[in-house]
Amino acid sequence: MVRPEAPARRGRELRRRYTAADLGVLTREEATRFAPGGDGDPQADVVLAWQLLYRLEPELYDRLIRAERLHPGILGWLPPDADRIVEVGAGSGRLTLQLAGRGRELVAIEPARPLRQLLRRKLGEAGHGDCARVTPGFFDELPVATGFADLVVACSAFTPASGHGGEAGLAEMERVCRPGGCVAIIWPNNLDWLAAFGYQYVCFEGEMSAEFASPQEAIELAGIFYPGAAAEVRRRGRRRVPYPVLGINPPRDLAFKVVAR
Ligand SMILES: C[S@@+](CC[C@H](N)C(=O)[O-])C[C@H]1O[C@@H](n2cnc3c(N)ncnc32)[C@H](O)[C@@H]1O
Repeated sequence: MVRPEAPARRGRELRRRYTAADLGVLTREEATRFAPGGDGDPQADVVLAWQLLYRLEPELYDRLIRAERLHPGILGWLPPDADRIVEVGAGSGRLTLQLAGRGRELVAIEPARPLRQLLRRKLGEAGHGDCARVTPGFFDELPVATGFADLVVACSAFTPASGHGGEAGLAEMERVCRPGGCVAIIWPNNLDWLAAFGYQYVCFEGEMSAEFASPQEAIELAGIFYPGAAAEVRRRGRRRVPYPVLGINPPRDLAFKVVAR
């Protein structure tokens, strides 16, 4: 996922929502990965601010992802016959809910407890409570046996940074994938880095818009997550907002690798 704002302005409204005092919400394992120096400042570090969003305001995050739906081509491209699926960084289930019911078993790994709770509730409401297991874990230490899955995915979650995936995370995703199975990074944010590890790129065409629940919600959420576009979203007064207006690439691409037999 690319949010191309100047670094000093990146996520400025999101960063303003939290302070260093909020870091106490992170578990020790989370702090090791997301604030390794022990002195992180979400007012300066947008990546850390996102972590606090997941834990302090999971419903707000869920409202955002409900608007940012994946291109249907992605769901169509993923192997339909995958019997065992592992998703890492499942969040509140943007992709998970689409995958549940496809195979015999789905393991959704998510470190943030409030998102796990939200995801379990949504899977249960959708009738997938039995075939989907939601469990804590991190990219660099997946709680899954070697060669377990036919398909291993991460959606808008994996980055080359060590706390959010990195080389160790990629190696773990490939470890839990069976030989001949597929690892797919959906809405990837560093194609060259992934290409160096043998990942191929697929992008689905067509215009895409974020679809907020109402014009009011578009204005509210743009004010928090896309402040550079907020004035234009307000001027348009529509619930559907084309991605070029928001200034990000749409969720319509993936990078994948078939694990060697
Ligand atoms: C932008 S959200 C995407 C969530 C969901 N996949 C979606 O598409 O909406 C990023 C997710 O990655 C998770 N995450 C961050 N660092 C992680 C790590 N080291 N290991 C596993 N998941 C991680 C976060 O908790 C969060 O749920």
